[in-house]
Amino acid sequence: MAGLCSLLGLFLLAGSLPLDAAKRFRDVVSHGGAAAPIVRHQDRLHGWSPDQNIWNEKLYPVWKEGDSQWKNCWKGGQVQAILTSDSPALVGSNITFVVSLLFPRCQKEDESGNIIYDGSCKNGTAGSPDSYVYNWTVWTEERDSGKCPNKSAHHVFPDGKPFPCHPGWKRKNFVYVFHTLGQYFQKLGRSSAVVSVNTANMTVGPQLMEVTVYRRGHRSYIPVASTRDIYTVTDEIPVFVNMSQKNDRNSSDDIFIKDLPIKFDVHVHDPGHFLNTSAIYYKWEFGDNSGLFVSNSSAFSHTYTLNGSFVLNLTIQAVVPGPCPPPSPRPPTPTPPHFPGTTVNSSDAPTPLPTSASPQDWGREAPDESCQVTRYGHFIASLTIIEGILEVNIIQMTKIQKLAPQTADSTIDFVVTCQGNTPTDVCTVISDPTCLWPQNTVCDPVEVSDQCLLTIRRAFSGAGMYCMNLTLGNEASLALTSTLVSIDGRGSPARIETGILVSISALMVFIILVTFFVYKRYKEYKPIESCPGKAVNGNGLDVSFHNGKAVFFPANNEKDPLLKKEAGIV
Ligand SMILES: *[C@@H]1O[C@H](CO)[C@@H](O)[C@H](O)[C@H]1NC(C)=O
Ligand SMILES: *[C@@H]1O[C@H](CO)[C@@H](O)[C@H](O)[C@H]1NC(C)=O
Ligand SMILES: *[C@@H]1O[C@H](CO)[C@@H](O)[C@H](O)[C@H]1NC(C)=O
Ligand SMILES: *[C@@H]1O[C@H](CO)[C@@H](O)[C@H](O)[C@H]1NC(C)=O
Ligand SMILES: *[C@@H]1O[C@H](CO)[C@@H](O)[C@H](O)[C@H]1NC(C)=O
Ligand SMILES: *[C@@H]1O[C@H](CO)[C@@H](O)[C@H](O)[C@H]1NC(C)=O
Ligand SMILES: *[C@@H]1O[C@H](CO)[C@@H](O)[C@H](O)[C@H]1NC(C)=O
Ligand SMILES: *[C@@H]1O[C@H](CO)[C@@H](O)[C@H](O)[C@H]1NC(C)=O
Ligand SMILES: *[C@@H]1O[C@H](CO)[C@@H](O)[C@H](O)[C@H]1NC(C)=O
Ligand SMILES: *[C@@H]1O[C@H](CO)[C@@H](O)[C@H](O)[C@H]1NC(C)=O
Ligand SMILES: *[C@@H]1O[C@H](CO)[C@@H](O)[C@H](O)[C@H]1NC(C)=O
Ligand SMILES: *[C@@H]1O[C@H](CO)[C@@H](O)[C@H](O)[C@H]1NC(C)=O
Repeated sequence: MAGLCSLLGLFLLAGSLPLDAAKRFRDVVSHGGAAAPIVRHQDRLHGWSPDQNIWNEKLYPVWKEGDSQWKNCWKGGQVQAILTSDSPALVGSNITFVVSLLFPRCQKEDESGNIIYDGSCKNGTAGSPDSYVYNWTVWTEERDSGKCPNKSAHHVFPDGKPFPCHPGWKRKNFVYVFHTLGQYFQKLGRSSAVVSVNTANMTVGPQLMEVTVYRRGHRSYIPVASTRDIYTVTDEIPVFVNMSQKNDRNSSDDIFIKDLPIKFDVHVHDPGHFLNTSAIYYKWEFGDNSGLFVSNSSAFSHTYTLNGSFVLNLTIQAVVPGPCPPPSPRPPTPTPPHFPGTTVNSSDAPTPLPTSASPQDWGREAPDESCQVTRYGHFIASLTIIEGILEVNIIQMTKIQKLAPQTADSTIDFVVTCQGNTPTDVCTVISDPTCLWPQNTVCDPVEVSDQCLLTIRRAFSGAGMYCMNLTLGNEASLALTSTLVSIDGRGSPARIETGILVSISALMVFIILVTFFVYKRYKEYKPIESCPGKAVNGNGLDVSFHNGKAVFFPANNEKDPLLKKEAGIV
């Protein structure tokens, strides 16, 4: 309150002062209120001017916040200015600010820079007889003849500098004044303006950028909007790491699965391409006593083999153009001995250059010498490693015999195994053969004992080729497998298609061998005819599988418990 009063008082005071106690930029554009300290020479931004300069208040009127004139400064509502930047910026790089003007509903800027009512805007004021909000062309044409702004006319910035002669300047009907760090930059623009500043001379930390926008009027300029935003200059390379892992259920919770590689993708925030020419090194410490890894690639992969909590510590390093160190108090450069009264002819007595005065050292004194500095970036994350489902495989598909074979519908039992932690739910997505268009999604909870083996029964409506995605999940993990299923019209065998064949063929050889053995041993107890697999389909492949599985997961050999036990089928 007191601050407001004193501010008001200041304004009153300013109002009563004679005209020559003119406004300065810092009084006009600094909405933050705090008077910035005088800019030191080394903090100068290239192309910017100190805000002690005089503001031409006659041409560019100044209104306080809350002044009623703001309400009438634009036809049909208020203009909003939106300021964005690509902050944070590494010191030395360029930071870019963008101001966009948001016009009242149904208004837009046209090709020639006039503001028009948007015809495509429904139920707006489009019905208005005058389709222009501001037809600046009318008077700019008659007054601003000539390719360049007329210096004797009103074509000047608030500090009196003439507008630059730039093609298309007539279509730029807004004046933008940027203000930060006690300096300002003025620019002519259309409904948006972009300014890039080099941060080499900026102090590290958060800073305030303020922007004031004026539109061109007949005799003067009229304020339309102002905005401000915080940006950050940093001496640490801004870095973000995207961590992903196969079978990880939630990619944003920093919980990952043991024994599966975690993929780390490092994103260095460098919108200005400041680090384009720098070699970047990545030093990884995973917190599991695996040691230090140094790489020059932004992608890295690591597998934790223990569960628990680990602190990941990434340090990145880049040599970038930087400020030259202040001239350190070096010992005075030795000069060739000079004896008064004696002239030394250099060709006669060549004096070797002292080592401290090597060409590099001479260069360092030059102001345009580009020095280099090593910058670091850090990323630290706490990862939780738990056990999860590592892999899922469909080892067998069996078509279930139907009592009413007239329909083409088929029911298939899928025998599924998994590695790692036990699943709590199973989902199947049946889709077209390209695996893109889901037709039927079913999820069920499952209860699995220590040995991960379950049978999943699914119905397929009609003949054809299907893609089935099967996922086993628990709290932290989600393992997927895909298979193609072919159902033929006569309700005969479901065949295992290529995708799964590949992974299974190796298993098959083994299984056939084992089958052969077991068959020989248990011949008496296990007549082949009783095997459900054979009874259902004549496909030799499926039979082998079925037998193979019975042996592979030895249980009661006579009757397949997996297929009989209804509770196990989901
Ligand atoms: C930094 O300030 C110096 C003057 O101290 C000036 O010569 C130089 O152009 C400035 N650099 C930038 C990038 O603004
Ligand atoms: C425009 O249409 C919206 C609904 O589509 C309605 O709520 C609004 O009042 C309309 N505005 C005018 C100015 O007619
Ligand atoms: C806007 O200005 C242009 C150029 O002078 C003119 O052709 C046009 O008729 C004007 N439109 C209106 C609505 O005044
Ligand atoms: C510049 O503007 C002045 C005053 O408005 C005018 O008298 C003069 O003719 C203009 N010059 C040009 C080149 O347009
Ligand atoms: C940085 O911005 C300045 C304008 O302030 C521009 O002249 C320069 O080209 C920019 N540098 C890069 C690398 O974009
Ligand atoms: C992180 O990686 C995932 C998977 O690769 C990707 O979908 C996501 O878009 C990435 N996120 C970012 C911010 O790069
Ligand atoms: C994933 O983890 C994040 C962070 O813990 C949480 O906010 C989000 O709700 C989780 N998403 C799901 C789908 O569980
Ligand atoms: C940096 O590299 C990017 C893409 O690799 C390129 O588009 C950009 O022009 C480069 N910038 C500079 C300043 O070299
Ligand atoms: C990393 O180093 C290798 C060998 O030193 C080099 O071939 C490769 O181009 C480097 N990659 C990057 C991204 O710098
Ligand atoms: C690691 O996993 C084992 C087996 O699941 C469990 O007994 C143990 O408590 C886990 N340890 C930690 C630190 O989570
Ligand atoms: C991360 O590593 C760097 C150097 O490798 C070290 O200086 C820093 O203290 C480490 N941070 C943590 C939290 O371990
Ligand atoms: C099935 O899984 C594959 C990956 O194996 C994926 O590309 C596809 O989008 C998934 N299809 C559906 C319908 O979810």
